[in-house]
Amino acid sequence: MTRLSDRLGGPRLWIKRDDCTGLATGGNKTRKLEYLVADALQQGADTLITLGALQSNHARQTAAAAAKAGLKCVLVLEERVSQPTEAYRHNGNILLDRLLGATLNYVPRDTPMADAGARAAEEVRRSGGKPYLIPAGGSNAIGALGYVGCAVEMIQQAADLGLRIDRVVHATGSSGTQAGLVAGFDGVRSGVRVLGITVGRPRAVQEKNVTDLLDETWAHLGLKGAAPRDNIEANDQYFGEAYGVPTSAMKEAVQLVAETESLLLDPVYSGKAMSGLIDLVRKSAFGKDENIVFVHTGGQAGLFAYEPAFAA
Ligand SMILES: Cc1ncc(COP(=O)(O)O)c(C=O)c1O
Repeated sequence: MTRLSDRLGGPRLWIKRDDCTGLATGGNKTRKLEYLVADALQQGADTLITLGALQSNHARQTAAAAAKAGLKCVLVLEERVSQPTEAYRHNGNILLDRLLGATLNYVPRDTPMADAGARAAEEVRRSGGKPYLIPAGGSNAIGALGYVGCAVEMIQQAADLGLRIDRVVHATGSSGTQAGLVAGFDGVRSGVRVLGITVGRPRAVQEKNVTDLLDETWAHLGLKGAAPRDNIEANDQYFGEAYGVPTSAMKEAVQLVAETESLLLDPVYSGKAMSGLIDLVRKSAFGKDENIVFVHTGGQAGLFAYEPAFAA
């Protein structure tokens, strides 16, 4: 991202375009679903079920994966954001979920989501179907394998460019992306540091979640010994008031990256993560010659659900 790097006055900023992974506008869930859908097919499932907030990108990508694999899809969607606008309720990912043929089950805010998922699975079973329940964000050891692969891919791409990656920065939510990246980078002892910018959880909670999933992923990969602990870092300074609530720094980041790099970020994840990266650059948290890679985890469909927030 040369124009953004110049505008900010260094370090050297790069981007990993995981918004270009496919499945109905792309995003980080494609890599997780590659493994999860394979597991579902191996188990003979005919219906994918998953959980998320109303504008969940993970839910939309699961609906897309189901359509592509010829499976049915049930989405359990929590009304997590208070005072949603019309656009939030009907546009963006919700519009795409419907087009992709998913069945949408809305549940009120603070519903225990794992229970709601189990109930949806029971309903599918009662009507003779075979459900495969994917946890929120596709974040278990199977889904996290997608980001182990992404870490290895980045190391290979950097080697092809003769580049040393100093640090990777990305939005972290249900933890699968971060746990997978850390397992991948540390599994091959690359020395690449990972920084997750949280989108709603306090740092300690996020770091604990990442640690737990890292351990599971490490064991699932069959790597020797215990997973290292020194590459787990979350920053909770950039999500603002709450999950899904716009911040002015997010809006500035989305605008700046669009104007300088012609890249579209999203309001809930990549926009807030980028606002963190920009602020850390302005605070000189990185050396001027460091190579920092921002993993674009997708989510642009959410922009259309947040149109009122960007209105002048
Ligand atoms: C666009 C986007 N970026 C980042 C994340 C966070 O990834 P993870 O849930 O693997 O932590 C999500 C999760 O839903 C997302 O939709």
